[in-house]
Amino acid sequence: MIDVQDLCYAYPGQDEDTIRGISFSIAAGEIFGFLGPSGSGKSTTQKLLIGLLRNYQGKLQIMDRDAHTWDHRLYQHIGVGFELPNHFSKLTRLENLQLFASFYGAGAELPHSPSELLERVGLQDAAKQRVGEYSKGMKMRLNFARALLNNPSLLFLDEPTAGLDPVNAKIIKDIIRDQQQQGKTVFLTTHNMHDADELCNRVAFIVEGELSLIDEPAVLKLRHGQQSVEVIARPGEEYTQPDVHCFELDQLGSNQQFIDLLNSNTVESIHSQEATLEEVFIKTTGARLT
Ligand SMILES: Nc1ncnc2c1ncn2[C@@H]1O[C@H](COP(=O)(O)OP(=O)(O)OP(=O)(O)O)[C@@H](O)[C@H]1O
Ligand SMILES: [Mg+2]
Repeated sequence: MIDVQDLCYAYPGQDEDTIRGISFSIAAGEIFGFLGPSGSGKSTTQKLLIGLLRNYQGKLQIMDRDAHTWDHRLYQHIGVGFELPNHFSKLTRLENLQLFASFYGAGAELPHSPSELLERVGLQDAAKQRVGEYSKGMKMRLNFARALLNNPSLLFLDEPTAGLDPVNAKIIKDIIRDQQQQGKTVFLTTHNMHDADELCNRVAFIVEGELSLIDEPAVLKLRHGQQSVEVIARPGEEYTQPDVHCFELDQLGSNQQFIDLLNSNTVESIHSQEATLEEVFIKTTGARLT
């Protein structure tokens, strides 16, 4: 669905490239996470992919066509959730979606009715309230609903769960998974390593305009973690302090000390020691997430 080779981009008037020779491909049906610290070039890349920024160097193919050959018809196929919600603040949520739906052309049969989408993202109330009076989380959810209006086969979502409480973030993540089950492709930009780990088939890390690595979250966590398990267990009564034990994963089933510990202690937890995605990021880039 997306093929990027050696993509470079400098903002007008800037001497230095903001995007410095990045390459990646995204297959149909994939959720691809684009991760990196603030200012690293995530939103700039998304804007290049959706044709908002032009005059780039390198190769950019969207849905099997060179990006230069796409005109406005690209927007029939893609859905975009921008980083900062940009709604018509004096209109209600339904009026916002209806107006946006009208941009697809008179008589365009949109597969999702605005009210159906609003219900899906938990915005069925506050019908009369103007969007300018919405909380940040409500604006984000409206932004997300708008990206789905035309039932796009390729979704670009820039920080879709930013500013959402856990319940609303879960609603959005469930819809993203549901989109994938329908065969849609998702380019997901985020700072949130936990969301990326939960949702993405593969993730790419961008730092100062360069990609430092691309892989499946599970592979990265294993590669950068320790091949061991940590067992926290209490040797005696309930009020005794638990001890922390560490065992190599290799041959764990025949490790007699491990088996004895399980049989003679009250085990409180057992955790394999793979790295978290955030640790992978810090380890491989030296950067800290903000
Ligand atoms: N319109 C612009 N003109 C000039 N420079 C810009 C413009 N927009 C962004 N930049 C610069 O490009 C760099 C990358 O910005 P970008 O918005 O892509 O970062 P980001 O990774 O999305 O960050 P965040 O996580 O904070 O959203 C930054 O140094 C930023 O200052
Ligand atoms: Mg951004």
